[in-house]
Amino acid sequence: MTAKIIDGKKLAEKIRKEIKEKVKKLDVKPGLAFVLVGNNPASQLYVGNKDKAGKEAGFYIETHHLPENTDQLKLLNLVDKLNQDRKIHGMIIQLPLPKQIDEKLIIEAILPHKDADGFNPINVGNMLIGNNLIIPATPKGIMKLIESTGVNIEGKYAVVVGRSNIVGKPVSILLQQKNATVTMCHSRTKHLVQYTKQADILVVAVGKAKVIKADMVKKGAIVVDVGTNKVNGRLVGDVDFDNVKKVASYITPVPGGVGPMTIAMLLENTLECMDLIR
Ligand code: GUN
Repeated sequence: MTAKIIDGKKLAEKIRKEIKEKVKKLDVKPGLAFVLVGNNPASQLYVGNKDKAGKEAGFYIETHHLPENTDQLKLLNLVDKLNQDRKIHGMIIQLPLPKQIDEKLIIEAILPHKDADGFNPINVGNMLIGNNLIIPATPKGIMKLIESTGVNIEGKYAVVVGRSNIVGKPVSILLQQKNATVTMCHSRTKHLVQYTKQADILVVAVGKAKVIKADMVKKGAIVVDVGTNKVNGRLVGDVDFDNVKKVASYITPVPGGVGPMTIAMLLENTLECMDLIR
């Protein structure tokens, strides 16, 4: 068996085109603000890509780049200013933030209806009880990728490896909402392979290059690789793609799988933020 590749780049392009057409018909441009603190190269790259995608879709974009030594109060003031700004419908505070800043406090300061990332505890709590308002972009993109296979999620056994607030936890909730039976695995899970080998749907978000090998994957599984690891200057996923594709029925590539979907979902979330205040 050779798995079909789930082409996230193509799907994301289609969604971005649809968003662009929608934006053309609006009388107000969707306003999205990015806040980047410090000089983390990966964060700079991510924000640069999101900024470009937003502009291409016809959004009003503001990028605020603050120095590494920015203090918490200064950042809180900026968040507050963006909360009040009527041109801005959604904002993204790029994570991680420097050590002197309490990430939780900053995320809580974002008005829930301007939280394009869906990271504010109000949005997370709503999702937990099935009231999906703003869903984090990466998990939302992962669900669209799985749904694009046409395979019915209901009743499937889904295993999520990784329990981050950004990916693992929310994607497990979304899979459960679609009636999958979900197991969450993490760094302290004993006998990981016992779980992964049973998974009809396997989502991997641990940030370690090629940890999921072919002998850990069930024949015919759908495998979603959220990893973005730099190895010898190359981007590599958490899944040993070349070998796992011989076992799986569908697999997302890195790059070109989840990453492009995250950006498209972020733009979609901004439109949803806009709807929440109308
Ligand atoms: N850092 C890594 N991924 C993300 C994301 O989706 N949003 C934000 N704000 N920061 C991140």
